[in-house]
Amino acid sequence: MRFQPQRAEIAVDRGQSVMEAAKLGKITLPHKCGGHGSCGTCKVLVESKTDLSIPTKMELRHLTEEKLTMGYRLACQCSLTGPATITVPEEPFRRVVREMLELQRQEQMIQSSVLIPVAVADEGTVEETETMPDDNDPSREIWGLY
Ligand code: FES
Repeated sequence: MRFQPQRAEIAVDRGQSVMEAAKLGKITLPHKCGGHGSCGTCKVLVESKTDLSIPTKMELRHLTEEKLTMGYRLACQCSLTGPATITVPEEPFRRVVREMLELQRQEQMIQSSVLIPVAVADEGTVEETETMPDDNDPSREIWGLY
């Protein structure tokens, strides 16, 4: 089972609920009622709904026909019959923070990469390749990388 946006792949047994799978993968899902199907806080979006159980009475109570058609389910109520991708809705503030951290991580990766000449082509041009610096490479001093 794959969880988004956590990018977590979790191996689960057939018949386990999405909530149980999330717990195995240490993925936080809201669950005010403790998984009894009464609060409706554990809504998730299932992209492969044919691989899940049919909606329970509790799901029909908390999810409209439109939401069910869109693929929303209660994580504590639906169980797995095969592979599925689960999208956990994020709070808007949490989503913004996650996206900012992801952007910052990408910028740091770009800044730490270095262009190193690898070959001189026929007409004297230098081909370059982008690579990550090696902390143990003595040529780091030549390139001014400390
Ligand atoms: S945890 Fe309350 S409905 Fe699923």
